[in-house]
Amino acid sequence: MERRKKRRRRLVVLFILAAVMIWIGGCAVSKPLSLSSLMSIGSKPVVNAGTSEQGPQTEAGKNNGNEIIVVGDTGSDNEKPGPGHSSNGEITPNKPDTTEKDKPDPPATEPPDKPVDGAKNKCEKCIALTFDDGPDSRYTTAILDILKEKKVKATFFVVGLQVSKFPEVLKRIDEEGHSIGNHTYNHKDLSKLSKEQILKEMTTADAEIEKAIGYTPTLFRAPYGAVNDALMEIMKEYKRESILWNIDTRDWAGTSVADMQKMIKKQAKPNGIILMHSFGGKKIQNTVDALPGIIDELEGMGYTLVTIEQLE
Ligand code: NI
Repeated sequence: MERRKKRRRRLVVLFILAAVMIWIGGCAVSKPLSLSSLMSIGSKPVVNAGTSEQGPQTEAGKNNGNEIIVVGDTGSDNEKPGPGHSSNGEITPNKPDTTEKDKPDPPATEPPDKPVDGAKNKCEKCIALTFDDGPDSRYTTAILDILKEKKVKATFFVVGLQVSKFPEVLKRIDEEGHSIGNHTYNHKDLSKLSKEQILKEMTTADAEIEKAIGYTPTLFRAPYGAVNDALMEIMKEYKRESILWNIDTRDWAGTSVADMQKMIKKQAKPNGIILMHSFGGKKIQNTVDALPGIIDELEGMGYTLVTIEQLE
């Protein structure tokens, strides 16, 4: 009897010990072992840390490439990045992470941007006078005299054929600090030409310009503002900037001096590009006659008259 009792006690103690051991073992693992948890042991934990989708940085260069100022008003607000981050109420575990990661970035990128902004602000009320179709020895030179007297810089989109006749006038435009742009050789409607023909129009004018002033311009203006895909491909390939306008005096059609001054006063706006001509018939005399008043009016309104490159 005594032996049986001892054996029973031993078994009970062993059973209790075994139960305690199992319980302690279970706590150390902290959760019940399962097949899936066993399989993940040894492999690296997957953490959602690699959120490299920092959108704002890649969006920065929106205004690169060929800048086209289209005939008529384009709204001109394309510079603004547009903070329109629409918030959809859903919050996924990744979202707080990315926003937190984005936050430290702006301070790091802001300082280098600031001087550029500062420079832009300096020119926030700038406007550009542009004169097409020259040079010639009559109107272009008269316009140059006025610009010199008023200490104003402008941009001349010149035609190769005219340059071949008046290279010294182009030289004067350049020497007096104005900007020069290619306006083709023959002033044809490029939208009706093949890519090869457009290229020929551009390069033959380039050659004539280079002969006169020693370099080829990067600015380009299509006659009649007529552009097509082939032209835009050329602009891209040859790193040219296609410049149109957003204020049209229609001086070639005979707009009177008073009307020209009135409409410029009414339509003037920051970063405006005013289209006028320095060659193209007797009506261009109105341009010459209106110019001093136009300059005075714009400056009186607080505008700085600049070349195309100085805009923005
Ligand atoms: Ni023209």
